[in-house]
Amino acid sequence: MKLLFLNGPNLNMLGIREPDIYGKQTYAALEEYIRSFCGELEIECEIFQSNHEGALVDAIQGAYRKFDGIVINPAAYTHTSVALLDALKAVGLPAVEVHLSDVSKREDFRQVSYVRLACCKTIAGHGFEGYRMAAECLSAILDGIIND
Ligand code: DQA
Repeated sequence: MKLLFLNGPNLNMLGIREPDIYGKQTYAALEEYIRSFCGELEIECEIFQSNHEGALVDAIQGAYRKFDGIVINPAAYTHTSVALLDALKAVGLPAVEVHLSDVSKREDFRQVSYVRLACCKTIAGHGFEGYRMAAECLSAILDGIIND
């Protein structure tokens, strides 16, 4: 099973940006965490972060026929990007939306998620652990697909 982990704008600033909301651990620590649980779960993974919407669209398109599923934290593009939604719909891969913080308890503008419409699940407010929960969810879905 091969999963693509996508992270949107400003997540490269983890550890520095608003640590009271996003924690004190760095983006490098997040990458290490993802690689480590993927090793345990026998998942092949690629991790990509960009501050640019088009680069994220390219990464989603590039996943077509190369990956079995996508874990995506679109960060601020969650709340604005029809382009990311359309890209996820275009490739048709199972996708799970992840947020480090509990967006449901934050500002009104964070209550809208476009990408959610193309995701089988949203996991928010579990910090780094949310990425593992997303991978486990995709793994269960894909096992179901494979075993059917
Ligand atoms: C975020 C939540 C978004 O609202 C915000 O713009 C981010 C990070 C999260 O992981 O909690 O950059 O996606």
